[in-house]
Amino acid sequence: MNSHVSVSGGTGAIITDARQDDDVVRLENVKRHFGETPALDGVSLTVRKGEILGIIGRSGAGKSTLIRCLNGLERPESGSIFVEGRQITGLDERELQPFRRRIGMIFQHFNLLSAKTVEENVALPLKIEGRPKAERLNRARELLELVGLSDKAKAYPSSLSGGQKQRVGIARALAARPALLLSDEATSALDPETTRSILALLKDINQKLGLTILLITHEMEVVRSIGDRVAVIDAGKIVEEGPVWSVFADPQTDITKSLLAGIRPQLPAHIVSLLSSEPTGEAVLGVDLAGAAAQGTLLADLPGPFRLVHGGVDHVQNQAVARLYLAVPAIAVAQFVSFLEARSARVEVLGYVTSHV
Ligand SMILES: Nc1ncnc2c1ncn2[C@@H]1O[C@H](COP(=O)(O)OP(=O)(O)OP(=O)(O)O)[C@@H](O)[C@H]1O
Ligand SMILES: [Mg+2]
Repeated sequence: MNSHVSVSGGTGAIITDARQDDDVVRLENVKRHFGETPALDGVSLTVRKGEILGIIGRSGAGKSTLIRCLNGLERPESGSIFVEGRQITGLDERELQPFRRRIGMIFQHFNLLSAKTVEENVALPLKIEGRPKAERLNRARELLELVGLSDKAKAYPSSLSGGQKQRVGIARALAARPALLLSDEATSALDPETTRSILALLKDINQKLGLTILLITHEMEVVRSIGDRVAVIDAGKIVEEGPVWSVFADPQTDITKSLLAGIRPQLPAHIVSLLSSEPTGEAVLGVDLAGAAAQGTLLADLPGPFRLVHGGVDHVQNQAVARLYLAVPAIAVAQFVSFLEARSARVEVLGYVTSHV
């Protein structure tokens, strides 16, 4: 354990990295294996001040291990983790405490204390810090107002809905004014409508307070609705990273495409079953467009007749992002592809059909 960390535990030494003081969290080549399993296999990642960064990956990708390394519950074998420019790898439990307080967390199952009222739950981090009672209560009231639950201050968690419980969780996470709010699948246990309201609240807090948010999720919809940037993690590696709209418009890896499958138009199965590799009849093209190119006039200028088989235009971070499926004459495929590619579209020839689909 800890073979390469550059700060030894228990010395009180804290390395400060002055170059990147504006980054809230930074991981450099972080590795953590469990036997043969590379839970984190050289992860480098930066969470910038004020942004909402989504980290998305399938089950077993390494998300929880990443969170545990961030809050010091797990120690990487090698690599460095910086919180607000200060290295935390190698610190002991006592030295980690102030850094843990800089990261507020919300959880899938809320983790509220059932024997305490809503306002006591919210004030708990301040109680642990030893803040005076009047200050704790004032802060709890202020935060309950922020999350729209002022009327529930004296209620107990058991009387709240899931969405209300998560609002309490958010208020509690913010009590000690953290630099980062870390959301660990915070909407995974909620219905779609409640999920939307919690995500809207997080976006609102991000914009009102400039709060930096790290969203850990396996659902692309969560990232789509409020993320600024996204990093895709698979088998312990960050395989793709970028502004959310650009990853949506032009996913580079199969894992990203499969994570997007639920929310991007997919060619219906009955059409897929008709596709052949024999270049006769019509070619079916999958076309990805973003920005101005996705707004529609491009279709009017295509170099010949075509049929729009399936698809749609979405808006991600106020950018138009289109995924279209076009059937074009097989003999004109090359013309269509070069026309579209010249206009920044990404085009795949998915196969050929001999009957109208
Ligand atoms: N304590 C451990 N002992 C052994 N293997 C572990 C341990 N913790 C994690 N792993 C393994 O490391 C890999 C990453 O696990 P991790 O829990 O970080 O994934 P995850 O992305 O959080 O998955 P999920 O979405 O299912 O929660 C998995 O293969 C897992 O089996
Ligand atoms: Mg997990």
